[in-house]
Amino acid sequence: MPGERDVVVLVGSLRRESLTRKAVHALAGLAPAGLKLEIVEIGELALYNEDLEGASLPASWRAFRDRVRRADAVLFATPEYNRSVPGVLKNAIDVGSRPYGQSAWDKKPAAVISISPGGIGGFGANHHLRQSLVFLNMPAMQQPEAYVGHAATLFADGGGAFEEARGFLTAFMAAFSQWIETVAPR
Ligand code: FNR
Repeated sequence: MPGERDVVVLVGSLRRESLTRKAVHALAGLAPAGLKLEIVEIGELALYNEDLEGASLPASWRAFRDRVRRADAVLFATPEYNRSVPGVLKNAIDVGSRPYGQSAWDKKPAAVISISPGGIGGFGANHHLRQSLVFLNMPAMQQPEAYVGHAATLFADGGGAFEEARGFLTAFMAAFSQWIETVAPR
């Protein structure tokens, strides 16, 4: 739809029953009409190795970089692994950031949501990721912070817990939409 904002979503989990992916699907359903969310898969990106830049550039890297460059904004949805970001997500960030001086992330408005079945809601991953966003020059939405804990309950049968979270998740997406317009006006 003309005028829609194209938001690339990176999901930091590869497993089939990922709670993080479920959260992203829920967010897509709650996003304001002006945002179009698209998950860009990162599981097949070759591990970053600077020797592959140039003639040996993996096709998957080129496609990923081009896709990110076309986007208006990026939503990072991450689980927490050992109080940090899963390697697959860090790899995607690294791939998009090079060659030096040609980062696909530069100036893209961003938001971060962390998801965990635990009680801390992936706070450590959320903030480790934010550390990279500073260096990548991505203006990251500060509020509302989104540390989604007890996520297994959230998506359990019955849907009661999800209904409780619906208002927050809707507000998060509305704020991100507003943030994109503020940081990158049309
Ligand atoms: C975890 N998990 C986890 N959870 C957490 O809250 N803090 C943590 O530091 C970790 N560390 C961690 C390391 C590794 C290697 C794994 C595999 C798991 C548990 C994690 O939150 C849980 O497996 C989630 O379900 C993963 O997210 P997805 O795959 O459901 O999206």
